[in-house]
Amino acid sequence: MNIPMNQTAAKVATTYNAVADNFDAQALSFWDRCGHRTIELLNPVRDSRILDVGCGSGASALCAARRIGPKGYVEAIDVAEKLLGLGRRKAESEGLSNIAFQYGDMTNLPYADNSFDYVVSVFSIFFADDIVAQLNEFRRVLRRDGTIAVTTWGNDMFEPGSSYFWEAVQSVNPGSKPSHNPWERLTNARAIRRLTDAASLLPTTIQCEQSQQILNDAEDWWTICLGSGYRGVVDSLSRSDREKVKGECLESIRHNRVGAISTSAIFTLMKNAPDKMRDRSCNLPHTKLGAKAKPGITGRTMMRTNKPSNMIVVVLSVLLISTLWRLRSGARL
Ligand SMILES: C[S@@+](CC[C@H](N)C(=O)[O-])C[C@H]1O[C@@H](n2cnc3c(N)ncnc32)[C@H](O)[C@@H]1O
Repeated sequence: MNIPMNQTAAKVATTYNAVADNFDAQALSFWDRCGHRTIELLNPVRDSRILDVGCGSGASALCAARRIGPKGYVEAIDVAEKLLGLGRRKAESEGLSNIAFQYGDMTNLPYADNSFDYVVSVFSIFFADDIVAQLNEFRRVLRRDGTIAVTTWGNDMFEPGSSYFWEAVQSVNPGSKPSHNPWERLTNARAIRRLTDAASLLPTTIQCEQSQQILNDAEDWWTICLGSGYRGVVDSLSRSDREKVKGECLESIRHNRVGAISTSAIFTLMKNAPDKMRDRSCNLPHTKLGAKAKPGITGRTMMRTNKPSNMIVVVLSVLLISTLWRLRSGARL
């Protein structure tokens, strides 16, 4: 099913085909961990139909397929054929027949409207140039009462490893660090809330969870660079610069005795907004999603539900209690 790809997707495909040699290494077990956590929070019902976009080698898709049972169905799509191949082999070795790994560009989904009960995107939505348009595309293929699960990075992705990586890259190639990376558009609950408002979706959960990936040795950090989006930068360097960057990264990890990097993530579940709310959000001013992430998602977990009337109930309760209190103590009102 080869469909024309936009320029961004073509670039991403080159990077993620290259990472296939390291993607499933033990040092990158956070893909599995976060994929499983996404499906745990989504809690799909048995026999349902799920679309997993940007599925990689199948962390969330395989977990979903096990969970929904043999009568359910998972369609897992990606633009990186090599990762799809890894996913197919895992499904085969597990004997899972309710999942298909297909080539497909998430910005132009090859499915009819209202085809799926759930749409899942783990660490992939931010690769779309226009994230609101991407959410609208997810919604198009989702049933009216379906749920979208989107998982994104927290604001300290891979730190302190990330800082060491960019310092090393800058030392061989000054000015090469991009002003911001695609995932930095969605690293806090407020940015996600602006996104769901702009797409007229109702977030039922925005949960920020801190987690770390243990490094058994400094080499683990380099394996992560080779098995993640940083691979695109590594492969753009000359062989000697690549060796220098690797050496500097390992030296920083060892010198600072770094034993883990951050893999904190934000898990968001969203549904179609009721028609009344959709009409209202259509009138919202255009929201900018490129805002720089603010530090501060440091709580272990944080739950947001969309109940705007909660504040009114709290204020009225406080007023009522204070009035009763004053009456009881004989104060004049
Ligand atoms: C960071 S990886 C995450 C993979 C997987 N969801 C996981 O968590 O293990 C991002 C994935 O999104 C895919 N991707 C990016 N842009 C895409 C697009 N336009 N259409 C389909 N897949 C895309 C990449 O090829 C890559 O496999």
